[in-house]
Parts: sequence; C-alpha cells; structure tokens
Amino acid sequence: MTESTENIKPVSASKIDAHIYKVFPNDLNSHNTVFGGVIMGIADRLALVVAERHSGHTCVTVSVDDMHFLRAARGGDTLVFRSSTNRAWGSSMEIGVQVMAEDSYTGDTRHILSAYFTFVALDSDNKPTEVPQLQPETEEEELRYAAAGLRRSHRLESAKKLKALRDKGSDL
Ligand SMILES: CC(C)(COP(=O)(O)OP(=O)(O)OC[C@H]1O[C@@H](n2cnc3c(N)ncnc32)[C@H](O)[C@@H]1OP(=O)(O)O)[C@@H](O)C(=O)NCCC(=O)NCCS
Repeated sequence: MTESTENIKPVSASKIDAHIYKVFPNDLNSHNTVFGGVIMGIADRLALVVAERHSGHTCVTVSVDDMHFLRAARGGDTLVFRSSTNRAWGSSMEIGVQVMAEDSYTGDTRHILSAYFTFVALDSDNKPTEVPQLQPETEEEELRYAAAGLRRSHRLESAKKLKALRDKGSDL
C-alpha cells in the first residue's frame, strides 16, 4: 500500500452540510412515493465526494451497510442530504449519509434514511492506498467514530462468511 503525505484530517474538511434535491413527478414509483434508487444514487455520489475530499484519491464503493427506508418521501418534498466521514482505517473509510424530507411550505421534516458507505481509496495503479486518519472534534463526531468501529467489525465478519460460502460454490 502506498503512503499518504497527510495523516490526519478533521471531519469538517470533507463533510457536506446540506445538499438539496427537489422531488418532481419523474422521481416517483407506481406507489407515488420517491423511488428508492433515486435516493440511493444521490447518497452514493455525495458519499463518494466526501471520501475523495478526505482521502485526496479516487475512491470506489466497496460496501453499503443495511439500508432501511424509515419513511417515504413524496412528490413535492424537498430532500436534504448530509454526509460526513465517520472514520478512516488503512485504505478504507466509512461515510455516513442522512436524508431528511422537508415540506417546504410548512417546514415539517421527516427522517427518511441513514446509510453507511465504505469506500476504498485507490492509487494511480488502482491499488488500495493509505488514507489520512480522522480527527473527530465534537461529541457527536466521537459517537459516530465509535459506532463506525462496531459496524466495521460486523461488516468484515459478514464479508468473510459470505466469501466462505462463495468459495463453497454459492452464487450469493
Ligand atoms: C475495493 C477493492 C479495490 C478492494 O480490493 P481488495 O483486494 O479487497 O483489497 P484489500 O483486501 O486490500 O482491502 C482494501 C480495504 O477494503 C476493505 N474491505 C474489503 N472488503 C470489504 C467489505 N466487504 N466491506 C468493507 N470493507 C472492505 C478492507 O478492510 C481494506 O480496508 P483497510 O485498508 O482500511 O483495512 C476491490 O474489492 C474492488 O475493486 N471492488 C470493486 C469496487 C467497485 O468497482 N465499486 C463500484 C461499484 S460497481
């Protein structure tokens, strides 16, 4: 793995505070709520930008933790995305994305989705490369940092078990 010249960065150096997406009719499914893939696609793009800001490298999504849509977003809603680096390890980083739906006429907001993306930074030979460590600076950032450590253990354990099944011939 190649070495990065920078070794620590604050969360504030890479985060996206508010990315606005106004829902129009072509975003809706046949149930008249927002098609989940629209939200997932935007979330992945934003998380990619955060990962590339943090690492200073081209990054690829290696995994996405369970994604639960907590509430439906509807036509006319304003979606507000927030994204930040939760933690960085060797070449990988966990990037969190939260999506709120806002009724811009009343100001009411609903929590639609929280999702956790793992990105790997690549060097010019497309090999995983070392990323700066993350410096959490607030209590909330400390909590996200700790939670990211727990999630990493689970996802690596799960990836290992799935690989063992694939090696036995499962096409999961
Ligand atoms: C990402 C990729 C380069 C990693 O290759 P690899 O041979 O697994 O590399 P390594 O084993 O060295 O792992 C690299 C990092 O990924 C992490 N990683 C690997 N598999 C993981 C998984 N399923 N979930 C979370 N992290 C994972 C490793 O823990 C390691 O992180 P660390 O350096 O911080 O410890 C490779 O899997 C790949 O190219 N995948 C396709 C990515 C892609 O194209 N995404 C776009 C979607 S089409």
